[in-house]
Amino acid sequence: MAATKEQVLAALATVKSPVGEGLVDARVLSDIVVSDGKVFFSITVNAADVKAWEPVRDAAEAAVRAVAGVKSALVALTAERAAGSGAARAPQPAPAATAKPAARQHPPHQHAHPADKVHPGIPGVDAIIAVASGKGGVGKSTTAVNIALGLRDLGLKVGMLDADIYGPSLPKLLAIKEKPQTIGGNRLKPIERYGLTVMSIGFLIDEETPMIWRGPMVMSAITQMLREVEWGKLDIMVVDMPPGTGDAQLTMAQQVPLKGAVIVSTPQDLALIDARRGVAMFKRVNVPVLGVVENMSYFLCPSCNTRSDIFGHGGAHKEADRLGVAFLGEVPLHMTIREKSDAGLPVVATEPDGPHAKIYRDIAARVLEQIKGGPSSGRVAPKIVIEA
Ligand SMILES: Nc1ncnc2c1ncn2[C@@H]1O[C@H](COP(=O)(O)OP(=O)(O)OP(=O)(O)O)[C@@H](O)[C@H]1O
Ligand SMILES: [Mg+2]
Repeated sequence: MAATKEQVLAALATVKSPVGEGLVDARVLSDIVVSDGKVFFSITVNAADVKAWEPVRDAAEAAVRAVAGVKSALVALTAERAAGSGAARAPQPAPAATAKPAARQHPPHQHAHPADKVHPGIPGVDAIIAVASGKGGVGKSTTAVNIALGLRDLGLKVGMLDADIYGPSLPKLLAIKEKPQTIGGNRLKPIERYGLTVMSIGFLIDEETPMIWRGPMVMSAITQMLREVEWGKLDIMVVDMPPGTGDAQLTMAQQVPLKGAVIVSTPQDLALIDARRGVAMFKRVNVPVLGVVENMSYFLCPSCNTRSDIFGHGGAHKEADRLGVAFLGEVPLHMTIREKSDAGLPVVATEPDGPHAKIYRDIAARVLEQIKGGPSSGRVAPKIVIEA
């Protein structure tokens, strides 16, 4: 029988805080997500007390795992800091349920610093880029996966982080069903697929379950996937961002030490307005915009190969010029891309000699040029060296 939230809470009541208080009474727990035997929640404490709380987190995880029907437990220890100053924030006084989303507690204008100035990078990872869009459903995840594979084909060791914790798509797009193994008790080993090193919250929590996250949980889940995963040595990590430019999105852009962002848009006016917002958002937090990709740019008839510009193709190129950012390329709306993508067989990996793979590889090469700060002559990129 599946475990209930009440059973989890009862187990947590037996775990003591560093000052001997029961965990439930200590008012540090977030909402507890219990889904199909998988449990996820966070413990939010004062940054100064983190060390003392680490054994409590371990004890909480162990207590939850011991509950009948629990298959896995992921407990994040969150310490809130005022970004930029490094000063510890006061612990959350309110019960978790009434706490405001993290982004509201950190208005963007208070700390518009480059993300990597505020947060240290991940050891072994040379560069992190985000693939983002202002609007949902424009093909961000599909583009992110194929760009990552394109970068792999350029000779780089590439990782992918699925930061879309509301609707993780990497398990599906890369046909990953296995669960990550733990190393040394509390670190996770990412999954390897098509030569990419991959982590997604979807590996831990059923992707069909609608996710209801509070702001601090979003942050702790992302932070945990960045810092408590054995990424190993990566030349570049490609982050598939959730859609939108909301507060949570903005906070995430600030939390992840980003070298730059690739904005994906479709050519329609409405999507372009959202793309403009996306560009503005990254600029506001001093994350360089590496450029814009126009996805579903034109329709390529699968039977006759005739091209039709059904959405008024070219809008994203014009918009990129207008915004003073690079145009990285256009990807056609094509059945093969959709079918392959949705079947977990991304075109760059499974049809490397096809026309679509070439388009994505060219985009990947342009992304790399942008990261390195200008056009490069050759197709095969050397190891990227990026100044801090
Ligand atoms: N160039 C393309 N041609 C055909 N279908 C595409 C193309 N790009 C993406 N799709 C399809 O469009 C759908 C949405 O794509 P995807 O999940 O990548 O978008 P997204 O922007 O990441 O969405 P969300 O905002 O929900 O995260 C998927 O079914 C995908 O296969
Ligand atoms: Mg997506």
